[in-house]
Amino acid sequence: MIDGVVKLIDQRQLPHRLEIVECRDYRTLAEAIRDMTIRGAPAIGAAAAFGLALAARASHATTRDDLLRDLEAAATILRATRPTAVNLMWALDRVLNKARAANLDGDGLRELVIAEAQRIAEEDVETNRAMARYGAALIDDGDGVLTHCNAGALATVDVGTALGCIIEAHRQGKRIHVFVDETRPRLQGARLTAWELMQNGVPMTLIADNAAGFYMRKGKIQKCFVGSDRVAANGDVANKIGTYKIAVVARENGIPFYAVMPTSTIDMTLPNGDLIPIEERDAREVTHIEGVPIAPEGVNVGNPAFDVTPHKYITALVTERGVVYPPFAENLTRIMFEETQ
Ligand code: MRU
Repeated sequence: MIDGVVKLIDQRQLPHRLEIVECRDYRTLAEAIRDMTIRGAPAIGAAAAFGLALAARASHATTRDDLLRDLEAAATILRATRPTAVNLMWALDRVLNKARAANLDGDGLRELVIAEAQRIAEEDVETNRAMARYGAALIDDGDGVLTHCNAGALATVDVGTALGCIIEAHRQGKRIHVFVDETRPRLQGARLTAWELMQNGVPMTLIADNAAGFYMRKGKIQKCFVGSDRVAANGDVANKIGTYKIAVVARENGIPFYAVMPTSTIDMTLPNGDLIPIEERDAREVTHIEGVPIAPEGVNVGNPAFDVTPHKYITALVTERGVVYPPFAENLTRIMFEETQ
């Protein structure tokens, strides 16, 4: 955020156009999250925190209580934009709790909220780099790596989660080849991940989602790396729709399946993945491609944006605090609570 303006890359326009959208108020920012101008769990979290910073700047409140009320109203609007990525709730709660705990008035509280949003964004840079280091160590020279959706720089504040690991392995000189699922219906793989990998000069092949099993059976894929929008306390992983199917086919073919996420994506309040709210998006995402109808008018459509991969299919979770192996319930508790105390 610079001078009360939050600038976002309009991810809906990529790879054809690199356009910047300016958000000057939190409602515009909330709409940008909802319509996926900005997307990807950590990026959504950082953006929401800046939404509160915009709300703090715009508020005419002079007292602490009035400003807190304005912030809570803004948080309610921001929170309602997308339900699955827990980084959104995490970032809003972090800023709100910081503000509630501070014994400051008016301008002091405003500054605190803006600084906390900035800190969330800055911390994500370090977090991304740590995950990239841990994840890259799991990738061997000569590996074919399958990824799904976009878990790269566009989805975070720095190099990304799953894609950050892949790009780091390439940067370390490992000769890898990435298989990128196109990721219907929003095509984040085709539009965003392919673009990011090509920008970084990483050898890759774009494939239709349905082709992943074919390449696994052919022996072209040695590892799967995906991001996550929410991890339950037992290690179940919610990620872009289609992830579950990849994990099951990977297991069938004896291929390790890694999910990469910052600890802000881990929701220890949910005992298992069945409790993760799954966003249902507009039917038009399925019935139309780039505005062109591809299905009969009036057809019945289901469009869940995410699915849950049961932890039994997951080889390990890669976080900024290290690689977490099964038993996940035990080991997640350790990295989330014990090691930070
Ligand atoms: O609907 P999206 O594009 O926001 O979904 C994004 C994903 O599913 C990503 O894999 C996830 O947010 C991790 S991104 C670092």
